Amino acid sequence: MSPGTIGWLSAGLSEVPNDDSWVDPGMAARFSGIRFTKRFTEARLARWVAKRTVAATLGLAETPESLRRIVIRNAPDGAPEAIVGEEPISAVIAMTDRADWSVCAILDGGGRVGCDLELVEPRSAAFVADYFTATEQRRIAAATDTRILANVMWSAKESALKVLRTGLRRDTRTVEVHLDDDDAADWRPLHIGDDEGRSYPGWWVRFGEFVLTVAAEGPTMAPVSLVEPPPLAEATPGHAWMDSMKLPNGANQEM
Ligand SMILES: CC(C)(COP(=O)(O)OP(=O)(O)OC[C@H]1O[C@@H](n2cnc3c(N)ncnc32)[C@H](O)[C@@H]1OP(=O)(O)O)[C@@H](O)C(=O)NCCC(=O)NCCS
Repeated sequence: MSPGTIGWLSAGLSEVPNDDSWVDPGMAARFSGIRFTKRFTEARLARWVAKRTVAATLGLAETPESLRRIVIRNAPDGAPEAIVGEEPISAVIAMTDRADWSVCAILDGGGRVGCDLELVEPRSAAFVADYFTATEQRRIAAATDTRILANVMWSAKESALKVLRTGLRRDTRTVEVHLDDDDAADWRPLHIGDDEGRSYPGWWVRFGEFVLTVAAEGPTMAPVSLVEPPPLAEATPGHAWMDSMKLPNGANQEM
């Protein structure tokens, strides 16, 4: 993969090995107290995907032993970092998960990257009014498919807020999403402007019920899946963690 290209890898919960042979000691210690919760299931899936993304990018084996040497940790602000053999890798990564699917994006050659996976789901008028700028609200109201536009824009905001490393600590109306082109290419360009005059170029794609966005500090080529075809292309949203929590009477256990 050439510098300036965002690589990405997707996987669903059903692909994650049940055993912990690929889990590094730090991850095992961190998650030892939170088994069988939604957070544990999502975080384990996301790390399985992130470790494989790093392995595929660096040309490392995807064996359990090799994956165990790849450590995914979080900086104090929450942003993910990859370490191999105690050294931070030169590439930056971003992680996201939704409905039992996870994506990791990786960018070599400097700068930050963000990615966000969302479902094409209804967004209430109150949600749109609270979290989108006036311009975005007008565009959503005028769209032929409001649901797609609202979710692409929301996802792109989250990607940009990951590039900025603030996440939702920052007011989502301080970043504004612009879709640059609406032709039929798989990945379509967009950019996100912030209230300090900076612009973050990115891309969006739809796979069935999912939309995925990526953003970076500077221009990048359209993202390249590290596995072809990308498993997300055939993905169905799941809620396996919820099913596993069901009690015989149909109620869910306390989270
Ligand atoms: C970052 C955020 C927008 C993502 O929200 P989300 O849509 O619910 O979740 P996603 O699955 O798309 O993304 C989660 C991943 O974003 C990444 N992330 C978290 N904080 C981040 C930040 N400040 N910058 C960049 N990426 C961040 C992490 O890798 C996280 O997954 P992990 O916790 O398993 O490592 C949201 O979690 C947020 O705003 N958090 C506020 C910052 C925060 O409280 N961080 C927690 C640790 S201090």
